[in-house]
Amino acid sequence: MHIVHTIAELRDKLSGFKRPAFVPTMGNLHDGHIALVQEARPLGDVTVSSIFVNRLQFAPHEDFDSYPRTLDTDAQRLEAAGCDVLFAPREKELYPEPQTYKVHPASDLADILEGHFRPGFFIGVSTVVLKLFSCVYAGMPAGVAAFGKKDYQQVMVVRRMVQQFALPIEILAGETQRADNGLALSSRNGYLTDEQRQEAAQLSQALKALGKAAQAASPADLPALEAQALQALARRGWKPDYLTVRRRADLLAPWGELASQPLVVLGAAKLGSTRLIDNLEI
Ligand code: PAF
Repeated sequence: MHIVHTIAELRDKLSGFKRPAFVPTMGNLHDGHIALVQEARPLGDVTVSSIFVNRLQFAPHEDFDSYPRTLDTDAQRLEAAGCDVLFAPREKELYPEPQTYKVHPASDLADILEGHFRPGFFIGVSTVVLKLFSCVYAGMPAGVAAFGKKDYQQVMVVRRMVQQFALPIEILAGETQRADNGLALSSRNGYLTDEQRQEAAQLSQALKALGKAAQAASPADLPALEAQALQALARRGWKPDYLTVRRRADLLAPWGELASQPLVVLGAAKLGSTRLIDNLEI
């Protein structure tokens, strides 16, 4: 595997290929990232991953500085998974000057849920993803990029960006990988103590219970069911931001017969100082 730090080196290593399979990450890789690499790999003629902790998507009070940076072990795992090129740019390479041109995704999708609780998050994500796409795919006829479904809304925001900018990139959404107790794998799980790691499984349990209740309910019942789910987590000491049932198509609150439409239950909550997110398609 080639490890490159500049856009010029990256393009040099990719020259001659026609369809990169790309997995963008912020590093501190877990089995979910590795599964994405393995899923994307057969869909392209060269496999690329990036590791870049993107300052633009962190609010000043968030964990940009403490976000775990584990390049050496990440590189070993990527190589073992069959990645051909690892792009690990330094901040000055991607942002040589303040990034004043930014992607502002549509507010109906990007200002709700995660976007509501993390204002500007999807501007930062969309901007860096477009920039990474431009680094990887410039001059390529087509490509495929893989994102994890744990960040459900992120996948939708990226998909819509690709569609609206007519980028010749297929977006693959990989299933969430989970620990034995159901906890969705996330780089931020590393912040949890052993005891919190056990408790953290309650988020996926809460989503499951809410999903089950929603399937037997009507849209008018949902706000009360969501409030109950939120209170139940809060009673266990969590600080929940949201637990909600939405349409998979646009993440709006559903109406009409619930049992007959594709829905997703999404949740975000803080356990101690660690903010966790998860979702479940029902
Ligand atoms: O999901 C992530 O790790 C990040 O949001 C991404 C897509 C790599 C952009 O920084």
